[in-house]
Amino acid sequence: MNTNQFGKKGWTPDRIGNLNGKTFIITGTTSGTGFEAAKILLTKGGKVVMLNRNSKKSEDTIALLKQELGSNIDVSFIQMDLAEQASVKIAAEEVIKTVSQIDVLICNAAIAQVPKQIITEDGFESQLGVNHYGNFLLQGMLYPRIEASKGRIVTVGSMGYNLGIKTIQFDDMNWDKNYSPNGVYSQSKLAQIMCVYELQNKLIEANKKEVKAYACHPGASKTSLIKTSGGLMTRFIWQLMKLSPLVQSAEKGAYPQLMCATEPDLDQTEFYGPTKRMNTVGAVGAHTLAPHAKDKLVAKKLWQISEKATGFKWNI
Ligand SMILES: NC(=O)c1ccc[n+]([C@@H]2O[C@H](COP(=O)([O-])OP(=O)(O)OC[C@H]3O[C@@H](n4cnc5c(N)ncnc54)[C@H](OP(=O)(O)O)[C@@H]3O)[C@@H](O)[C@H]2O)c1
Repeated sequence: MNTNQFGKKGWTPDRIGNLNGKTFIITGTTSGTGFEAAKILLTKGGKVVMLNRNSKKSEDTIALLKQELGSNIDVSFIQMDLAEQASVKIAAEEVIKTVSQIDVLICNAAIAQVPKQIITEDGFESQLGVNHYGNFLLQGMLYPRIEASKGRIVTVGSMGYNLGIKTIQFDDMNWDKNYSPNGVYSQSKLAQIMCVYELQNKLIEANKKEVKAYACHPGASKTSLIKTSGGLMTRFIWQLMKLSPLVQSAEKGAYPQLMCATEPDLDQTEFYGPTKRMNTVGAVGAHTLAPHAKDKLVAKKLWQISEKATGFKWNI
């Protein structure tokens, strides 16, 4: 029996209508799913503002997109390193100054499987610092503009949320005692997803029904993720895995975030991604989310700790 609400093939970008007049802010568009998502949104007439850490790569990305799609596409970038809270603040302020409407913020950028514990200049373990605290601050700072635009926040998580300890290690957030590349990556992606559902709770409490928050993931996709931040052995294993039918193209990996960014009347309480072969590939739609990702007590505590750690209080 097929239970995918978008039919047997699942959600595809054919469903996206004309995006003229819509503005999308996307993090991490210099490669992988972020690049593919930006490209498809531009193809459909959307305006894309990219938040990337590397200015040269961003300029090259814009040049490539213009070469492929024509010079009249509306694409720009603002430099932002999610690993530095100060950089996130400056970039968010620049967005608020220059972008009058945010229909969708897609938090796509991340690092993964960092082999050794690295502490950022803000004192965070690097995967938690980039993937969770960086995005938490960015979303919070842009929230007022998103609310005024009746917009959406889309968080790109990972099936990794369901690996590792399946909760937040509150007594050692930096994993000083038991650092493991995958354990910490899994926790950082769980933290990202938990904050989506906690944000939904807060929006309901504040009666802010017009803002939406979605959680999705790209399954297993051929991107630069492991090459950029993973250790030698993980990179080797990933190279082999890429040859298997358990890994799909980066373009297909972009579909879940595109769906969450553009599909009208999409149920926020679900978790979206590929639905075949243990959610690594295939038809995109809603699928099971393990209950620990919606543990309200843990999520509340995580939110409080994150506000304290970033020194930023959300104004919902
Ligand atoms: N690929 C998969 O199989 C897979 C599986 C599960 C989840 N995901 C998730 O999918 C999302 C997209 O990743 P991807 O697979 O497309 O990887 P990718 O090809 O490595 O793209 C990641 C993007 O994030 C950017 N980025 C990394 N660190 C950053 C920082 N400190 N500040 C700002 N930008 C930063 C990268 O910029 P640079 O070019 O400068 O490095 C790049 O543009 C991530 O959230 C990842 O966790 C991917």
